Amino acid sequence: MKTIIEPFRIRTVEPIRMTTQGERRGLLEKAGYNPFLLRSDDVLLDLLTDSGTSAMSAEQWAGIQRGDESYAGSPSFYRFEKAVHEIFGFEHVIPTHQGRAAERILFSTLCKPGDIVPNNTHFDTTRANVQATGATPLDLPAPHGLDPAVPHPFKGDMDTDRLVELLETEGPERVPVVMVTITNNTGGGQPVSLANLREVSRICRDFGVPFYIDACRFAENAWFIKQREEGQGERTIPEIVREIFSLADGCTMSAKKDGLANIGGFLALNDESLARREKNLLILTEGFPTYGGLAGRDLEAIAVGLHEVLEEDYLEYRHASVRYLGEAISEGGVPIMQPPGGHAVYIDAAALLPHVPPLELPGQTVVCELYLEGGIRCVEVGTVMFGSRDPDTGEETPASMELVRLALPRRVYTQSHVDYMVEAILSFADRRESVGGFRMVEQEPVLRHFTARFEPLYEFGTG
Ligand code: F0G
Repeated sequence: MKTIIEPFRIRTVEPIRMTTQGERRGLLEKAGYNPFLLRSDDVLLDLLTDSGTSAMSAEQWAGIQRGDESYAGSPSFYRFEKAVHEIFGFEHVIPTHQGRAAERILFSTLCKPGDIVPNNTHFDTTRANVQATGATPLDLPAPHGLDPAVPHPFKGDMDTDRLVELLETEGPERVPVVMVTITNNTGGGQPVSLANLREVSRICRDFGVPFYIDACRFAENAWFIKQREEGQGERTIPEIVREIFSLADGCTMSAKKDGLANIGGFLALNDESLARREKNLLILTEGFPTYGGLAGRDLEAIAVGLHEVLEEDYLEYRHASVRYLGEAISEGGVPIMQPPGGHAVYIDAAALLPHVPPLELPGQTVVCELYLEGGIRCVEVGTVMFGSRDPDTGEETPASMELVRLALPRRVYTQSHVDYMVEAILSFADRRESVGGFRMVEQEPVLRHFTARFEPLYEFGTG
């Protein structure tokens, strides 16, 4: 059969509240034109994130019922630990309430002021957690990942020449850890090749620097390796995953992505003395090491989800839906990051709206217009999220790309939902020449995109 179907049936449904364009115009104005500040009841199709938004399976709900809430030594923890051992292979498994808690614990044990932490591209919380220790996050994306329009099978790769140069010029003492994010979320949800991971691992071993993986979308990355990398097509997903993590000293994980869970994460590693220090920190802010800020039932849902996410039928459907969305809007003339990523399609807002300069936030225009057009919520990944503002002069430096992310929650939307998204996006694209930009009128000094407020620089909602 040529048609790829959702490999599940739906037994519980959640209603979607329909809204009109007129209502949405008012709601958006009230939210300061920042979709993070909308109520989710006012959203028809929520593509804000694929994080914590998965639909759980019957087996996961069964796990929730089985959850044991003992403070210490719960069997739920041991089932969770066993799943992480089996899949990732690391010796020490530290549960955390989500990925950023694992990051905070890792960086606060490894980094000190003046250090440099390279990554293919830091996710925003990763960057902020490195900075919180006084160290400097440094992005080293491979050159073939930088042009949104030019396809390449592994646009998430790290630039290993620059990594070697950094380690040689700064010295390995200044680099407490090298990290690679799979898939590279900020760089367009693009995968990292096994060849690149092997090379980064070899360089780190040569220089004696620990190598960690930000594992959030590890199964999606492994699927791309199986599909696209020479010599990998015959291997199973668990085999590829096992090799990926055997190359590293540890990983941070947000189970809200490829754990198919609504909350949770972990830090896993092989270094025993480091793990001991990290468990002490965990007790301080997260909880005892056999629950780490999670309920026993959450640990059960993750243990099941980590296995389900490796199923090939699931991964095939997952990638087919993201690809379908990407190809349909791209064929309709909307420039996207090519090829579509593992969890999301990224619209190139700078190319879609060439008449809106980066400092007038073209990505924010696309985000607001798609909400107005179809009640679709998505997120700007451009100057709002990654631009920088001089605290003294207020002068703004734009980000290197102006993207808008359409992230698909896992196992949540059907084909007709995706068809609706395509229709709304193309309908907005038809009237793109009539729109303008936005300006930020309120912002916080860190992670400003979550709470900033905006004003349109054109007649919004009259086109
Ligand atoms: N690393 C990556 C690559 C991520 O995408 C995220 C979260 C995190 C770390 C942090 O994990 O949210 O569990 O603390 N990304 C979400 C997103 C929020 O929408 O892309 P967390």
